[in-house]
Amino acid sequence: DFQPPVRDAQARDTGSDAGEVGPEEVTFPQGFLWGSATSAFQTEKGIAHADWSKWVTQDPPKIKRGEKPDVGGPDSLNHIDDDVRALKESGQNAYRFSIEWARIYPTRESFDKDLPDGNALAVYDGLLTKLRAAGITPLVTLVHFSLPDYLATAGQTGWEDPSAVALFTTYAERMAARFKDKVDDWVTINEPLVVAISGYIAGVHPPGAVGQTARAFKVAQIQARAHARAYDAIHRVDTVSAAGPDAGGVAARVSVAAHLRTFHAENPDNAEDVSAAKRIEYVWNRWFLDAIVKGDWDDDFDGKLDGPNDKRADPELVRRADYIGINYYSDTLVSTTGSPKIPGLDVALSEANLNTGRAKTDVRWDIYPEGLRTVLLAAKDYGLPLLITENGLADASDKNRPRFLAEHIYQAGWAMQQGVPLLGYFHWSLVDNFEWESGYCPKFGLFSYDPNTGARTARPSASAYRGIITAGKLRR
Ligand code: NOJ
Repeated sequence: DFQPPVRDAQARDTGSDAGEVGPEEVTFPQGFLWGSATSAFQTEKGIAHADWSKWVTQDPPKIKRGEKPDVGGPDSLNHIDDDVRALKESGQNAYRFSIEWARIYPTRESFDKDLPDGNALAVYDGLLTKLRAAGITPLVTLVHFSLPDYLATAGQTGWEDPSAVALFTTYAERMAARFKDKVDDWVTINEPLVVAISGYIAGVHPPGAVGQTARAFKVAQIQARAHARAYDAIHRVDTVSAAGPDAGGVAARVSVAAHLRTFHAENPDNAEDVSAAKRIEYVWNRWFLDAIVKGDWDDDFDGKLDGPNDKRADPELVRRADYIGINYYSDTLVSTTGSPKIPGLDVALSEANLNTGRAKTDVRWDIYPEGLRTVLLAAKDYGLPLLITENGLADASDKNRPRFLAEHIYQAGWAMQQGVPLLGYFHWSLVDNFEWESGYCPKFGLFSYDPNTGARTARPSASAYRGIITAGKLRR
């Protein structure tokens, strides 16, 4: 049994959970998806034609300590049996991973002529076959940050070029046609707002643009359109037809994985901070989901649908999600007086080293389980099933992870008692991996690995997770 989450004196939450005491016990239904997540670029070796492939070789390095995914990583495609064993050993029944577009179609010519790399298709197919044989439900992400380098055209990169919509739709359609017998559940794009903000405002992901809010908004918009078209394409090819179901027997379920955070005013007594926190929460948590679920197109991101290019219930966008995928990590403090300010939004955001009195992860993010329930209750209003597609922490010592798991899963169970239709929980991550600009140092895995042999070793939290899954319930 774990201790109830303690609300410290300085916790700034003003949301749904303020002062509430949770239920004695929360339970999880049969069929609940219990899994963990990884992504291709963070765990594979030998991805040579992605935008990130070039990004990690720049000099001076863009990655801490100049680390590269090809050296010292978990090499997941050569350790499929180890990963499936790790999933089984820790009692999981689901696994989220991504297919690397640039591995399947390394060049623009191979893409245009539909000449996929046969070995790449076979290796993902092999992974899916082994997962199915082990009774593990796959959840497949089509783009997890990294994109083929040929999406970059003069002056525009990746999602910035509107032609990315058609290219992504074609890729999604082909992958659905190829894997529909083994995959029912899809994530089209991972964390579209993080792609926009990290690449075009913070400058820590390719193309490394700093403070270019207008470009970031455009990137978010093109991803929304690309998602909607890919959603249609996947459903076109992966149907349960009158003539009989596909081999999976289930219609596809398609969504994005949205990175949802809680946002609090840095200074709760400053009315401008409070309203800025609401504004940034809208841009970050709601803008994209409003577009693909309600079809509400807020072209200038001002939270109102009164502009000349705004639209309500756009038939090209509305209800292009069968569930809402949610990545939840932590809290954010919003300030109108701090710096650096995000141009165009005029706020400063702090995500690390928050002065809240809460415990911190190894990368100094707050451990804030209550925030998970806050974002679940907010997302419930979209009227769709929800799925926690990522939740986790950097914790090399594994001292905090067992309790982190119990407390977050408890909050998820509490949210379910409050009517949230939650399909499952995926922990980030199955195994330690390449944490983008931070390299290999942050350890997010339930399992570590030996960089020489690739052998996986369970951390104590892997059996803690197994315990929760086996019990199917948690006590306060
Ligand atoms: C979310 C991203 O999807 C994933 O790639 C990353 O490793 C985790 N957050 C942890 O930062």
